[in-house]
Amino acid sequence: MQLTVVTREGERKEIESQAGHSVMEAIRDAGIDELLALCGGCCSCATCHVYVEPADMGKLSTMSADENDLLDSSNHRTEFSRLSCQIPLTDDLEGLTVTIAPED
Ligand code: FES
Repeated sequence: MQLTVVTREGERKEIESQAGHSVMEAIRDAGIDELLALCGGCCSCATCHVYVEPADMGKLSTMSADENDLLDSSNHRTEFSRLSCQIPLTDDLEGLTVTIAPED
């Protein structure tokens, strides 16, 4: 399946991944290293912060209280903020577009 990632410099990259991976893993495996993902996906660092394309927000499962709390620690949170390690890829997310949020 294909995803689009917009880097902090505004470059759009089409990347390939598969259902079962998280969006964070997809971005990391594509070699985009500005997404630090320091905690490795266990929802405790918030360095995998992305903005989900508004049109795609409705396709995502609701966030956990832990994710919500961690996002509150970011100065760059918007209504489109998610932690990419907390978005599991499923087939209906084909074509998902996310933008990497600024570093806190
Ligand atoms: S990788 Fe640390 S919260 Fe997502």
